[in-house]
Amino acid sequence: MVLAQLLESELPSVELKEFTQIIIEQADRLSALVNRLLGPQKIGQRKSDNVHFVLEKVRKLVCLDLPNFINIKVDYDPSIPDFEMQSDQLQQAFLNIVQNAVQALIPAAKADSMITLRTRTAHQVTINGQQQRLAIEIKIIDNGPGIPNHLKHTLFYPMVTGKSDGTGLGLSIAQELIKQHHGRIECERISERTEFSIYLPMTY
Ligand SMILES: Nc1ncnc2c1ncn2[C@@H]1O[C@H](COP(=O)(O)OP(=O)(O)O)[C@@H](O)[C@H]1O
Ligand SMILES: [Mg+2]
Repeated sequence: MVLAQLLESELPSVELKEFTQIIIEQADRLSALVNRLLGPQKIGQRKSDNVHFVLEKVRKLVCLDLPNFINIKVDYDPSIPDFEMQSDQLQQAFLNIVQNAVQALIPAAKADSMITLRTRTAHQVTINGQQQRLAIEIKIIDNGPGIPNHLKHTLFYPMVTGKSDGTGLGLSIAQELIKQHHGRIECERISERTEFSIYLPMTY
């Protein structure tokens, strides 16, 4: 809750500081809740697996129930080697992000609606303060309306949702699963596209 902490230090009055203190406490409490919910899976065994195999499972799953105005394009770098992962957990993380992209594209029902699954190797990436010589970059890109402005700074916190029927858990779970893989997730808006980027170290 870095932003709330920043806000707190900038605020003039004691009452306003109390409000931000409440925000900080509640966000910490909810993050701890998600960590507890995901806790036992941490014990799971990592196995050498292929990231494209995982992404293809997600693609096929989503395609089972995809409106026909949405296309999913793949742009994989086939040279990415297998690496140690808990593939079920990564699958869940990717699925949560792709499902959000689908849900963001549905209301406008544009004929050119597109989701792109893209992989690349990335050199010298900093993940959680550590410089990684070699990492894998996975991008899940959509050409939908983008993250609502009021959610931008809290997107990855639990129970932050822009949907009337949302749980707000998808991205916070995805982030926690990626953290368990010593990775990093971020979201950017780049020329009419919403890009979720995941960086996973090849070894750690
Ligand atoms: N690709 C996307 N495009 C637009 N908004 C998004 C996208 N991904 C996530 N969001 C926004 O982030 C919110 C939080 O997502 P998530 O944590 O998965 O919870 P939920 O899907 O249950 O609302 C969504 O409700 C939505 O408003
Ligand atoms: Mg979701």
